[in-house]
Amino acid sequence: MTIPASAMSRAVELRDLINLHNYHYYALDDPQIPDSEYDRLLRELQDLESQYPDLVTSESPTQRVGALPLDGFGEVTHRVPMLSLDNAFTDTEMQDFDRRVRERLDYSEAVLYAAEPKLDGLAISLRYEGGVLVQAATRGDGSKGEDVTLNVRTIPSVPLRLIGDDWPEVLEVRGEIYMPLAGFNQLNIRAQASGEKGFANPRNAAAGSLRQLDPRITAQRPLAMYCYGFGEISSGPLADTQSEGIKRLTDWGLRISPEMRVVKGVEGCLDYYRQMGERRASLDYDIDGVVFKVDSLDQQRQLGFVSRAPRWAIAQKFPAQEEMTELLAIDIQVGRTGALTPVARLQPVTVAGVTVTNATLHNEDEIKRKDIRVGDTVIIRRAGDVIPQVVRSIAERRPANALPFVMPDHCPECGSDVIRDEAEATIRCSGGLFCPAQRRQAIKHFAARRAMDVEGLGDKLVDQLVAVGLVETPADLYKLTLPAVEGLERMGRKSAENLLQALEKSKQTTFGRFLFALGIREVGEATANALAKHYGTLDQLMQADTEALQQVSDVGPIVAEHLVTFFKQPHNQEVIQALLDAGVEWEPVEMPDVDSLTLAGKTFVITGTLSLPRDEIKQKLLNLGAKVTGSVSKKTDYLIAGEDAGSKRAKAEALGVVILDEDQLNALLAG
Ligand code: IVH
Repeated sequence: MTIPASAMSRAVELRDLINLHNYHYYALDDPQIPDSEYDRLLRELQDLESQYPDLVTSESPTQRVGALPLDGFGEVTHRVPMLSLDNAFTDTEMQDFDRRVRERLDYSEAVLYAAEPKLDGLAISLRYEGGVLVQAATRGDGSKGEDVTLNVRTIPSVPLRLIGDDWPEVLEVRGEIYMPLAGFNQLNIRAQASGEKGFANPRNAAAGSLRQLDPRITAQRPLAMYCYGFGEISSGPLADTQSEGIKRLTDWGLRISPEMRVVKGVEGCLDYYRQMGERRASLDYDIDGVVFKVDSLDQQRQLGFVSRAPRWAIAQKFPAQEEMTELLAIDIQVGRTGALTPVARLQPVTVAGVTVTNATLHNEDEIKRKDIRVGDTVIIRRAGDVIPQVVRSIAERRPANALPFVMPDHCPECGSDVIRDEAEATIRCSGGLFCPAQRRQAIKHFAARRAMDVEGLGDKLVDQLVAVGLVETPADLYKLTLPAVEGLERMGRKSAENLLQALEKSKQTTFGRFLFALGIREVGEATANALAKHYGTLDQLMQADTEALQQVSDVGPIVAEHLVTFFKQPHNQEVIQALLDAGVEWEPVEMPDVDSLTLAGKTFVITGTLSLPRDEIKQKLLNLGAKVTGSVSKKTDYLIAGEDAGSKRAKAEALGVVILDEDQLNALLAG
């Protein structure tokens, strides 16, 4: 088929546009158009290419996915070997490194170093010829690696064609392919949902994804790349320094670490190391240290190599995030909502500078999946501020008598039966506030700063109050007397007085805080405030049914059900009444005069794809006094129909309901 010139030129135009937007998005981290517009351009190109298959070129942005599986990876000989790095674990080792550098260079001033995080992924070499990505290879043994071109092509931050035209004819860049933590967590959640094992850490996930023989699988994995070095370059070095050379790569659409800095002397290195150490936990990727490279390429040449590592670079490592220890026991903790959580009790071990004695095991499924048994030697991981995790057990070290773990079928705190929630993979104690564990948690939640804000009522004190039987429900807090509190362990007269004063003060609250403090399942601060604002009074709220409740923004069917169930329990009604009797009160919530609003009394249903999230549209309608329901009926006044509106539209048409498109909706909202 002959291709019309117009199609040919449009394809070229679209490819350039898409490459340019990739560049802004990935290399500069500064998108110029919304995702939807980008998708539109890509779709237009895809359509053109499927109409004229001869238009397709290997570097077209449409060709990132879809290559067929391989039997194995080919071998690639690196024209410039891919080196490894020496490690420094202490400041002293860094000082030694810097001294050796200066001695070899016979240089007495402070050396400038290019500093970057050391990403925990895997090293890759990209080869561009004439600006087109022709090969991607793993490091392998440093001189020979594996050809993973088809897989690397699926990674969005790797340009298939370089931007601009001033790139060298042959350009080899090196960098790290890694998996951002957000993507890693999602991938593991999905894997677990389908009963697979998941990956132990983001590094394994990145390596496993890249070594897939089927590129279509790699394409679904959230991989990314940062460039940090060079291989063969036909024109010679790109600049006089490491840092300037790396920065030039962004001009061509390649992505570099935004954390790269030039630092002065070993003091500058140590400062950078400490700063990155502090930032480590807040980064969206794992790093296991920082890398320092002598910035001047001239000095790099003078220093040269020893065996497989350059003398001009070093990695200063962070303390390991994973350590091995023995699992002594698995205890069960009962939470505020009765959820039973297994907790690993460990032989104390120092992980990344902190002594770890407990780690979460999440739930029974996770213990089964990882086959973790008491007595096992396990790997503990502590990344940043997150609660330490048990990554896996080491099968070879398992004692012969280690038994698989079974969840109890009665609550270990109160003996009540447990209820399994298959959908949530949780097991709950059915004891409610009869269960001392749930009671303690409910009271801690009630008194918390963001709830009733009872100053000085800490966890230990709550445990004591519940243990001696002084407090069973939040309302009992307001019945405490000075003699009773004074008599508690570690309580003097002064602190007892302070506590009673704080309790008195907490009685003046807001409706939202009060609702949040009740600890209704899935009712967080935001939902509590939305409910308070919508209903204004407790009576109104307690009378609402599930359908009415769903009129409140971010209240769906599940939360509505929890609310109705909660307010139906005589026990909860008693506690609420006792709290009000004790003098808990709040300023009345100011309510808009609903009847005067423009859409008062009108019922809407929203369907199809719209340019705003449905919740936002719902909120706008609610603000104008409208009602929004989930299904079309005779009572529906308007159907807002976005793109691809299906059965609801048909039903609305059949019932003669007025159908509005997005423009008409906007006109209505604008009044
Ligand atoms: S430079 C000659 N820079 O660390 C220089 N490596 O332990 C060789 N790595 O194989 C590498 N982040 O996989 C360099 N900013 C960075 C790095 C980095 C991670 C990895 C890379 C290398 C390994 C050496």
